[in-house]
Parts: sequence; structure tokens; C-alpha cells
Amino acid sequence: MKKMNVRVQRFDPGQDEKPHFQTYLVEVNEGARVLHVLHAVHDEIDPTLSYRWCCGSGQCGSCAVRVNGEPVLACMEEARDAMTIEPLKLPVKKDLVVDLEPALDALSHIEPTGSAAMPTREEVELIKPLRSCIGCLACVSVCPAMDVTSFAGPTAMRQDFRLALDPRDTKDRVTEAVSKGLFTCTSCQACWKVCPKDIQIPGKAIEKLRSLANKKGLTLPRHQEVAKMVRETGRSVSRTEPTFMEQVGEVIEPHGPVKATVGFFVGCMYNQRLPQTALDAIEVLRRNGIRVIIPKEQVCCGSPLIRTGQLDFLDTLKRRNIDAFAFRNIDTVLTMCAGCGSTLKHDYRTPFRVMDINELLTRYGIEPPARLPLKATYHDPCHLLRGQGIRDLPRELITQVVNLVEMPSVCCGSGGGVRSGVPEEAAALAEKRREEIEKTGADIVISSCPFCEFHIMEHTDRPVKNVTTLLLEGYREKDRKKAENTV
Ligand code: SF4
Ligand code: SF4
Ligand code: FES
Repeated sequence: MKKMNVRVQRFDPGQDEKPHFQTYLVEVNEGARVLHVLHAVHDEIDPTLSYRWCCGSGQCGSCAVRVNGEPVLACMEEARDAMTIEPLKLPVKKDLVVDLEPALDALSHIEPTGSAAMPTREEVELIKPLRSCIGCLACVSVCPAMDVTSFAGPTAMRQDFRLALDPRDTKDRVTEAVSKGLFTCTSCQACWKVCPKDIQIPGKAIEKLRSLANKKGLTLPRHQEVAKMVRETGRSVSRTEPTFMEQVGEVIEPHGPVKATVGFFVGCMYNQRLPQTALDAIEVLRRNGIRVIIPKEQVCCGSPLIRTGQLDFLDTLKRRNIDAFAFRNIDTVLTMCAGCGSTLKHDYRTPFRVMDINELLTRYGIEPPARLPLKATYHDPCHLLRGQGIRDLPRELITQVVNLVEMPSVCCGSGGGVRSGVPEEAAALAEKRREEIEKTGADIVISSCPFCEFHIMEHTDRPVKNVTTLLLEGYREKDRKKAENTV
């Protein structure tokens, strides 16, 4: 047996004005789950504590709560001393019991034809990864799109795609999904990362529904314009100044000995809209012994097409990009756009290794920069944090230059085609980011994705910089101090 202190959020709408925390000392067996702790509080200390559970074995989904801020199944999560247990971020009925009805009501139910038609083998394979939902609503509780729109939510999209594949269902689930907010999903992947059944709703349901919507002519007009631009120019955004690739040669040598040679996949945003940030990154790479090869025939990675379900031209883009790097026998391709990196890693089959710039710089090590007297906060790009599992590496780099104050990792609203297709939603999510940034009291905002940087820049009065620009400023300060000392 072991003793542990736990904080539990309590709220009785009949008595309390607002939720409050109560701390309990409980004694439970080694290896006890969070649910055992709740049983101990309820049975031995306070029988008024309300919480849901049923199967006790990860099958029914009724026990979902947040532990230290993260949605989990109470019956499966190991209990830890000093943990905080809260309800999911959904309307609370009492204590840890939330209102499930609105989200469950949004789920479509099969309307059978009465025919004996069965899904094909191919359809069954697509349905399989969507079948294991246990209705815990962890995904719904973290979806940023639902916070600012009337989006029916991730599990409703999962169900609509499942039914769209089933010939026994009579309704037009694709049109229904569009009317329920299919194009408001930002592809942030938060729903997938909290799902206890590991259901990859953005990739396995939402993007697939968007592709079916495209076949029905339901793609948003602005998304069609982006696809047209990619087909005609090879780029998903227009240029606003000389592009990055127009300003550099094909091979850029480092200042000192060569530690590694990489190909640089620049991406549309850094090439066309934020070339100075990519130039800053090149300076940091040169200073740290990285030789950079930039094949000029590279084009858009195709992410804006994949996320919006417009797949016609995708294979052409993939072939051009793979050939551009493979032709030069490049074995490591560097990305500094989180979206491009995630796309090359997950949507391509490349004959080369793909590394994000944060991975590359920490792998080969960097010359220490000088410190700057600034307080920074870091915005986690969804396609870096959840798309590539990179959380700590940018923080390791940033804290070599400035002090870091954290804010919650939530989508800024720029991804999934939302910035172009549903701009009012993108602005509402960016406004929430602005509020979080202000709460930190930070002087500057650091990120590691051009879409996030560009979008957040428009919604905050603080400077927004890439990790590599911050490092470069640290190096410039170091050089300045050195020059001062030698005068
Ligand atoms: S990917 Fe993000 S925005 Fe889309 S459904 Fe999942 S949580 Fe919501
Ligand atoms: S999709 Fe996953 S997180 Fe969402 S309700 Fe189903 S099991 Fe829970
Ligand atoms: S009690 Fe059924 S999943 Fe936890």
C-alpha cells in the first residue's frame, strides 16, 4: 500500500458559484489507477464525490477525466502522488461528471437501405481504424475548432466517414459532414493524440471526407484557388519579394569545417513570404558546420492539397521533389517548416532521411550563443509537436539565448486550410493565442513554423521570431561583445 495526496476539482452547481479544488490523502495499492484513487476518496472520505465509470477496463469510455491537464481514462491511467484530477473541458454537471449529450447527439446513426449490399474489402480496411471509438469524448474536449465555431467535432467526423463508406447507409454523409463544419478542422491533431484508442481522425477520416467532398464539387472556393496556384506555379502562396531561392546559390558552404551536408527543402512560405527567416537559418547553419544544398527545382510539398482533400496533382509534386534531392544523392533533407517536415515524413516515401532544423542543430551541436535580456514564450506548431513529436528540442535551443515562459500548446488557427478557407475562425483562434501570449508577460514570441509565425504576427503586438533568428541574434550579440573587448 502507498499513500498519496491528490487534488480533485469539485463543483456542485446547486451549491457552488464556481469550481474549487479539494486535496485528499488516500491509501491505495501499488500500481493503483486513477479510478482506484477516486473510489478511495468516495468510499472512505467523501461519498458526495461524483464521477463516472462502468467497465473499469478501458472499454466503455465513461471514466475520462483530465490528470495534470491531459485527458486520460481514469481506469487505465496509473495514479501518481500530487496529481490533479479535473473533469474534461466540457460543460460540468457535477464534480468530474460532464455533459456528454451535445457531442453524442451530433453523431450520425445509420439509416439502412434494407438492401443486402456490403462494404467492399477496400472500404472495410478504411472503416477498421475508425471502429474502436468508445465515446469517451476526450477528442471533443481538446478540439480548438469546436471552441470558436459550431463544428460537430472529431468523433462526429469519424462517424460520418464510417457511414459514408457503408453502402447500407442511405444518407449523403459527405454533404452532411460539410454542413457540420468539415472544413473548420485545423489539422492540429490534438484529437488523435488524446484518443485512448489511437484513432487518427484528422488523417483517417477528415482528410478522406474532404477528398470525397472534392469529388462532389464541395471544396471551398479559396481552397480551389490554392490548388490552381500550385498547379500553375508549383507554389501554394504568391511571392511578395525576391524569393529565398533567388537570393542564394545551390551550394552554401559553412564558415568552418564541414560537420554534415544536407539538402534544404525550403517550403512555399519561407521561399515566397518569409525569405529573411530562411536566410537567418542559413547563417546559423553555416556557423555550425552544415553544408547546405538547395535544389532549385523543388516545389510545394503538397500539404495544402492533402489537408484540403485535393489530391489530383499530388503525385506530380511528390515525384518532382523526390527527384530533385535524389538526383543529387542527398541522404538527409532538412525542413524548417513544420507542415512540410510532417508531410515529407508521413505522406511521402522518400529515399532520404528527413530532419527538422531543431533536430539537426541539436544532433550536431551548436556553438553557444550570447544571452539576450529578454523573456520569450514559445508557440508549439501543431505539425512539429504532434506531427513530428518534437517538443523539447526547440526549447533546448531557445533557452540558450533567452528565458522561456511556457503557455498552453494550442493551435493558432493557421493550419488545415482554415486560414485561407475559414479566415474568421483562424482569426478567432489567433485571438485566443494573443490572450495566452499576453498572460505570459513575454517580450517576444518564438516559433518554428512559417504558417504559425506569419499568422501570430498579425494578431499580437510582440515580435514573433523563428528559433533560428533568435539564435542568430544571440550570435550577433556574441560577436558584438567580442569586438568590443578587442577594441
Ligand atoms: S485535428 Fe484539431 S481541429 Fe481537427 S478535429 Fe482534431 S482536434 Fe479538432
Ligand atoms: S475518437 Fe477516441 S477520443 Fe474520441 S470519443 Fe472515440 S475513443 Fe474517445
Ligand atoms: S471505466 Fe470504462 S473505460 Fe474506464
